[in-house]
Amino acid sequence: MCRIVIDCDPGIDDSLALLLALNSPELSVAAITTVSGNVPAHMGAANTGKVLKRMGRLDIPVYVGEPVPLKRAYVDAMDTHGSDGMGESFFEEADIPYQEMGAVEYLETLLEQEEISILALGPMTNLARLARKRPDLLKNIREIISMGGSFKSHGNCSPVAEYNYWCDPEAAAVCFEAFGAAGKKIHMVGLDVTRKIVLTPNLLEYICRLDPDTGEWIRRLTGFYMDFHWKQEGIIGCVINDPLAAAYFVKRSLCSGFDCYTAVETEGICAGQSVADAMNIWKKPANSHVLTETDCKAFMYFFLSRILRKPDG
Ligand code: BDR
Ligand code: CA
Repeated sequence: MCRIVIDCDPGIDDSLALLLALNSPELSVAAITTVSGNVPAHMGAANTGKVLKRMGRLDIPVYVGEPVPLKRAYVDAMDTHGSDGMGESFFEEADIPYQEMGAVEYLETLLEQEEISILALGPMTNLARLARKRPDLLKNIREIISMGGSFKSHGNCSPVAEYNYWCDPEAAAVCFEAFGAAGKKIHMVGLDVTRKIVLTPNLLEYICRLDPDTGEWIRRLTGFYMDFHWKQEGIIGCVINDPLAAAYFVKRSLCSGFDCYTAVETEGICAGQSVADAMNIWKKPANSHVLTETDCKAFMYFFLSRILRKPDG
């Protein structure tokens, strides 16, 4: 079983990723840390609590992370995720015991004691702060999988930048450099693969038939997001980015890609763009594994098999 920390900003697709991860026996979730992204970090923690309550996993500690990006003004994504960050579902608040310690301090303490893996589903502000403060501890991060960036795909916040890296480009840049220096490769689950993962109304109907309770919960969570996709891009359904990163964490055969050096632009109109040196032009050691292909059908089977309740409850 793999011990992980999930660093996230729930978030509609983050919530679905949590559902998948918490239903995956291969993972042992040590804690969930939140970061300001889709919603402010404290709201992300409250939303995490709502998911944990649903899953009967209020035993998992939640640590609130950094309130703002490293350098620039914070821009949330409530236009996409709703004023509550969960598609205006306004699920009942859960009474979670908030941890006094901040996310960065928690990660520091944990990594002093053990090796863990990290599933990063939001801007990488917490991880960059950790990398700056304690670069010596990065060796204890077994693996880091980040939903973010893009290789050939267009962006979703600017023509070239994906939201998580665009929200805090300095943090993403720090992480790629620091993890590379520590001999690690960030698995970049970017828009090239995640944009192929669409939860369609038909699939949702199917989920509702198989497991009405889970289905209705997901319907309430994703309605706003589906409307957003229709109005914004003419997509029927919604792109669920973060669950693919969680699924890939558990089942590597769902995606494929290549190793290379990746940098993140921090200035000007391309801020937040991930620049993957696929041709090895810069001759720098690989600090990333960039995913370019995914098997959508295999993902959907996997997703459904993990989120649906078994008949015995
Ligand atoms: C990413 O940005 C957020 O809006 C989603 O939760 C996902 O992590 C996609 O660009
Ligand atoms: Ca997210």
